[in-house]
Amino acid sequence: MDNIVRIAIDGPSGAGKSTIAKAVAQKLGMEYVDTGAMYRAVGYKMKEKNVSSEDLEEVGKVLESTEIDFNDGIIYLDGKDVSGRIRTPEMSQIASVYSALPPVREKLLSVQRDIGHRKSVVMDGRDIGTNVFKDAQHKFFLTATAEERANRRFLELKAKGEDVEYKSILEDIEARDYKDINRKLNPLRKAEDAIEVDSTNMTIEEVVKFILDRIK
Ligand code: DC
Repeated sequence: MDNIVRIAIDGPSGAGKSTIAKAVAQKLGMEYVDTGAMYRAVGYKMKEKNVSSEDLEEVGKVLESTEIDFNDGIIYLDGKDVSGRIRTPEMSQIASVYSALPPVREKLLSVQRDIGHRKSVVMDGRDIGTNVFKDAQHKFFLTATAEERANRRFLELKAKGEDVEYKSILEDIEARDYKDINRKLNPLRKAEDAIEVDSTNMTIEEVVKFILDRIK
C-alpha cells in the first residue's frame, strides 16, 4: 500500500490556484506542483524554436528532446530554470494555444503522473481532478468571477509598477477561459467529485482554511 496523498486544485486562470496550492502544500508538508508552469515552459520552447502550433509533427519531434521538471517551486526546461521567463501575458496566450495539442498533453500527463507517483503532492492546473489524478483523495475547483480575477491581477501588476489597463487584462482572462473551456482535449471542467470554492469574496487565508478543514 502506498500512502501517497494527492490533492488536486483546478480552476480558471487567475483564480489564485498557485498561491492557495502553495500554502496548502506548505501547511501539510507536501510538494507543490504547478502544471500551468509546465505548459508555459513547453510554449516557451516552441516559440524559441519557431515551431508552429499547426505543425504537430514538428511539435512532437521537439517534445522528444524536451525535458520538463518542476521541483521546489522551480520550473526546469531542459535542465534550466525558466521560471522568470514564462510569466508574461504573451507566454500566457502561447501556453493556452500549445496546451490544446495532443502531443503536448500526452507528454506532460506522463511527467505529472510520474511526480505524483513518487511523492505526495498538491497539484494545480485545469485537468488534475478530471484526468491526471482521477483518483486524487481530495479535489477542489477554485473559481472567482472574471471581473474579480482581472481586478486582482490588475492590482498585482500595478503594485509592481507596471503600466496596465484593467480592460485588456479582463479581455485576456476571458480569451483564455474560452480556450481552456472549449478545447477538445481535457478541457477545464469541475470534476464531479470536486468541491467548488468560489473565492470572489474570500481572502487567501479563508480559502486556505476552507480547504484544510475539508482535508483533515
Ligand atoms: O495556470 P496557468 O495560467 O499558468 O496555465 C497556463 C496555460 O496552461 C493555461 O492557459 C491552460 C494550460 N494548462 C492546461 O491546459 N492544463 C493544466 N493542467 C494546466 C495548465
